[in-house]
Amino acid sequence: MAGGHRLLLENAQQVVMVCARGERFLARDALHSLAVLEGASLVVGTDGFIKAIGRADAIQTLFSEETFEERIDCSGKCILPGLVDAHTHPVWAGERVHEFAMKLAGATYMEIHQAGGGINFTVEHTRQASEEELFCSFQQRLQCMMRAGTTLVECKSGYGLNLETELKMLRVIERARRQGPISISATYCGAHSVPKGKTATEAADEIINNHLPKLKELGSRGEIHVDNIDVFCEKGVFDLNSTRRILQSGKDLGLQINFHGDELHPMKAAELGAELGAQAISHLEEVSDEGIAAMATARSSAVLLPTTAYMLRLKQPRARKMLDEGVIVALGSDFNPNAYCLSMPMVMHLACVNMRMSMPEALAAATINAAYALGKSHTHGSLEVGKQGDLIIINSSRWEHLIYQFGGHHELIEYVIAKGKVIYKK
Ligand code: NIG
Ligand code: FE
Repeated sequence: MAGGHRLLLENAQQVVMVCARGERFLARDALHSLAVLEGASLVVGTDGFIKAIGRADAIQTLFSEETFEERIDCSGKCILPGLVDAHTHPVWAGERVHEFAMKLAGATYMEIHQAGGGINFTVEHTRQASEEELFCSFQQRLQCMMRAGTTLVECKSGYGLNLETELKMLRVIERARRQGPISISATYCGAHSVPKGKTATEAADEIINNHLPKLKELGSRGEIHVDNIDVFCEKGVFDLNSTRRILQSGKDLGLQINFHGDELHPMKAAELGAELGAQAISHLEEVSDEGIAAMATARSSAVLLPTTAYMLRLKQPRARKMLDEGVIVALGSDFNPNAYCLSMPMVMHLACVNMRMSMPEALAAATINAAYALGKSHTHGSLEVGKQGDLIIINSSRWEHLIYQFGGHHELIEYVIAKGKVIYKK
């Protein structure tokens, strides 16, 4: 058969498929080794989806008559799936480098939050910022993420808290989603903090009665597409009951539940998430044993955020226990003005060193399992025929260098490709 294709990647030392049998996630023993082909090539079609992966000589024979818009010689290099960042807060004005200094001097996250800093500081600045300003800084951040290998990212609102600013943030996310080239999963996080002058119950009422109906209306008119609903379930922020009400109302609108739980205090957030059928629960530094068991049974994924625990000097989430009990473990950068990290390779490195994950576990957590956390593992998160052609090429003959070389991703990542098109070349 002769015909045109978008991209041929030839003769890579390793093609890290991650999984090869259409798995929607990897857990337990499946994480011991990932699907890796040696001396392999890969073809992406004009529709942006992967058409073939296999031994270089077999692909050469099969496609010898065909034409490609682009061919890249990958000799001595590795091809991996584009990385998936399952948790970020990337739209805001009001950076907080001054608070970093306070934290280094000993202040805790909650002390700063309760004194009106933290999220509330960023909320004030985000409310004042123009939509254009927010869009420009957001675009720059997406660019940095992309150059660090991220091709699918979850993006939260949550620095507006009032309807007007939450919608402004969601419009900014929508604009970037339509423009591409990075794929985005959009999250409404209006319950990120309790706005000044309100109780958690009043804030929950406002969200349920005013924000969510508006999202529904804008969604049905095709103006804004929201995938997930989030709440910061924490002592002194949203209690378990308000969290339940908000998440349930979001679920009733068809949103996937994906929320912050058990970060600074044990809240039984994991148990609640499992009960409500959450697709993902993030943080979990303080999760209970029962919560872990419930998440494994419900297949609610755990989105672990090594940057947060690292920079707030929290105890590390119990990744080993979660992995041993069969929880689907994913990773996110948690990029936000508190934890300013745009690099998933650095996140994977921290997960290995501080949370004692293996390199295959970390890569699966930043690809197929992160895609699962966003409900997108049928199209993203592994290199398999039929999946979106999102991938990275690194200048190393072993894929593990992407994790091993801490902060070295700028040197290593030679190409970032989305839907078979080169979107970054070093
Ligand atoms: O995931 N914990 C709540 N939300 C963010 C922090 C947001 C902020 O401090 O601005 C987190 O770490
Ligand atoms: Fe967060």
